[in-house]
Amino acid sequence: LGSPLILGVESSCDETGFGLVSDGVLLGQGLASSAAQHADFGGVVPEIAARAHLEAVVPTLRIALEDADVDLADISHVAVTSGPGLATAVHVGLAAAKSIAWALGKPLYGVHHLAGHAAADTLEHGPLPERSIVLIVSGGHTSLLAVGDLVRDPIEHLGDTLDDAAGEAFDKVSRLLGLGYPGGPAISRAAVDGDPTAFSFPRAMLRPRDAPFTFSFSGLKTAVARTVETLERAGQSVPVADIAASFEQAVVDVLVTKAIRAVRERNLDTLVIVGGVAANARLRAVARSTCEAAGIELRIPPPRLCTDNGAMIAAVGDLLVRSGAEPSGLGIAADPSAVL
Ligand code: KG4
Ligand code: ZN
Repeated sequence: LGSPLILGVESSCDETGFGLVSDGVLLGQGLASSAAQHADFGGVVPEIAARAHLEAVVPTLRIALEDADVDLADISHVAVTSGPGLATAVHVGLAAAKSIAWALGKPLYGVHHLAGHAAADTLEHGPLPERSIVLIVSGGHTSLLAVGDLVRDPIEHLGDTLDDAAGEAFDKVSRLLGLGYPGGPAISRAAVDGDPTAFSFPRAMLRPRDAPFTFSFSGLKTAVARTVETLERAGQSVPVADIAASFEQAVVDVLVTKAIRAVRERNLDTLVIVGGVAANARLRAVARSTCEAAGIELRIPPPRLCTDNGAMIAAVGDLLVRSGAEPSGLGIAADPSAVL
């Protein structure tokens, strides 16, 4: 009692997530995934994701309430992903969040999915410093940002990917290696026994004349595809573990190099890495040792808070409420291509 209790609702891709946060503390969450239903298609099928969200909303909310040991009536504010994401998927979470907010007579806040990814880290490591560099690496985005408190302070876009997002590259390479969807965890598992130096795949945009904070991963994906084709045409077996490890190493090298460059150039001392790809063990290890050597404080949420979830959306809602922000209102629409 007294402290606000924020319900966060996430449905922008294939995870249905509900989280309950109060005063920066995660009280409980519920999470359902339709990933298995998309496996045969090599990527998320929007109509299947939307149907799965519709089926999952009530049971998953129930799990979150039980996990936090609170009642629906205890909720004081509702926060929901309004974008970016798959329109049909976002609509389900928005409709659920509106119904809950209206029925309870509580304010509703639309939340940017990527702000959610960044805020996830605050649930583990506390408030962000005055200013930090955030590397967001997910299935749809690869962005370097300079951020403050995530809600009031300006967010500066340093760079994005020109083509595929890092997670998308994992998904596409996984598909061409026959490892299935989602690709990140599958590549990671295959790479454990592989030699990351077996193949020297391209590290794009790392030359001095390239844009310093811009990424490109489609050439890397093509290089992996060519390697597989060449081996198969020559009748040789495809060393999946070595290719997976070498691909992973190429992605990680580029991400860590550019992120640290951003921290240095902005004269900051904190790097935050978030989004589904931040669950990657090699990325976590390389970022950890490189930041340690460079005297940079590294913050990465635990893997379960890196991939999509409702807790991260509740975390942004909590920051909005505490900053005195105006609610969005029940008329809020989905913004599938929202920019931060
Ligand atoms: O943030 P997220 O859950 O959803 C989006 O907002 O896109 O990120 C999903 C992406 C997928 O591309 C998935 O393959 C990737 O994150 N991913 C990983 C790992 N776990 C998930 N990539 C590399 N290593 C992982 N362990
Ligand atoms: Zn995401």
